[in-house]
Amino acid sequence: MTVPDRIPSDRTLVRGRVLSFKRRPQGAGDSSAYTYLEDGVVVIEAGRITEVADAGEIGRLEADQGALHDFTGKLILPGFIDTHIHFPQTQVIASYGEQLLEWLTRYTFPAESRYGDPGFSAAQARFFIDELLRNGTTTAVCYGSVHKSSAEALLTESERRGTAMFVGKTAMDRNAPPEVLDTAQSAYDDTAALIAAWHGRGRQKVVITPRFAITSTPEQLEALGSLARAHPECLMQTHLSENSEEIATVRRLFPDRADYLDVYDHYGLIGPNSLMGHAIHLTPREIRRMSESGAVAVFCPTSNLFIGSGLFDYKGLENGAHPVRIALATDIGGGTSYSMLETAAEAYKVMQLRGQKLSAIEAFHLMTRGNAEALGEPDLGRIEPNAHADLVVLDSSATPAMAHRLKASSGDIEEELFVLMTLGGEQNVCEVFVGGRSQGLRRTIG
Ligand code: GUN
Ligand code: ZN
Repeated sequence: MTVPDRIPSDRTLVRGRVLSFKRRPQGAGDSSAYTYLEDGVVVIEAGRITEVADAGEIGRLEADQGALHDFTGKLILPGFIDTHIHFPQTQVIASYGEQLLEWLTRYTFPAESRYGDPGFSAAQARFFIDELLRNGTTTAVCYGSVHKSSAEALLTESERRGTAMFVGKTAMDRNAPPEVLDTAQSAYDDTAALIAAWHGRGRQKVVITPRFAITSTPEQLEALGSLARAHPECLMQTHLSENSEEIATVRRLFPDRADYLDVYDHYGLIGPNSLMGHAIHLTPREIRRMSESGAVAVFCPTSNLFIGSGLFDYKGLENGAHPVRIALATDIGGGTSYSMLETAAEAYKVMQLRGQKLSAIEAFHLMTRGNAEALGEPDLGRIEPNAHADLVVLDSSATPAMAHRLKASSGDIEEELFVLMTLGGEQNVCEVFVGGRSQGLRRTIG
């Protein structure tokens, strides 16, 4: 038997323009919030980043072995993180003409009823993760359908790919057709079983997921509140104050509660682990309580515009007397794009309509480190030693219109990022690395 004189390593080097955030930027021009290497190398071993170096050191780095992926001139960022997306709504996206409650009844519940079939769920999971990766999204916080098997299908596929996914079985025991209903007990049991089998298994995590107050009985919210108390390591996700008719219905269903947020709060579901989808029409009391509890308001701009729900008050929540943590998400299939770049573009427009500004660096921070912090994940969303090597490589000039626009740029990185978020999408994604492994997407290099 021949013994190699050096043990082959799984070292990977990725070369390009490396951008990563250190903290939340205070607005345009806050260059101390990020690090940017014009010609850098990200060194990866065993799925994690071990070093970020100047390309001048490439000789030393290559001598230590490892496959070099040369994306000189392209941007390397942490893989995008989507903090609110519905796995069983990939065929609901682009459904015509309704606002929230009618949209759920007419399109969403029928589509979700198909996910009780494990074979169908498995096939859909492959499509779903493919689509996320094509858009540069390497981690997502996902709602499954009411069926435990849908969450299992997505977790299984994610484990196979090596992605870090957060997945919940959606709990809903009233105000929907019987084929998409569970019970208080089965929601508790199924979620507890998922946590036992999957939470922290490799890179997979389980999220406690009551759909929203309209589709959960007090008994179900009580059961999930006790599960959340028993599992402080798990995130909780739900919807809050998205649409006026929804809010009025919640008031009718829970007349003893102070407001919509108080319904969840009453059952022990509000705290720093709580991801509150939409949070558009909040009262001053709800804002105070969101702030004090550390719950996260998840801004879903393409969905809010498409379903006609309203304009999220980003700066009001971020900088008000009671600051609220904020994350950014697609909300497929109310949302209309899988791309976090397109999502950021719509966030910018929503904020323009409110007389607010979203600088490119604030948006890119949100898509990466900001969203990771909302999930309490210090090893995601950044390019620095010990972080998971989930990366996206972007070509800012992938389309003629973008290349043409950038010819008129001074070369300023923030201007380039603004062009990327305003005109960009999946066409700009050259490559994605998941745990250091190249996903073999389109390569526009060479
Ligand atoms: N509220 C309750 N369920 C949903 C959903 O599936 N999508 C959106 N946008 N809002 C919801
Ligand atoms: Zn949603």
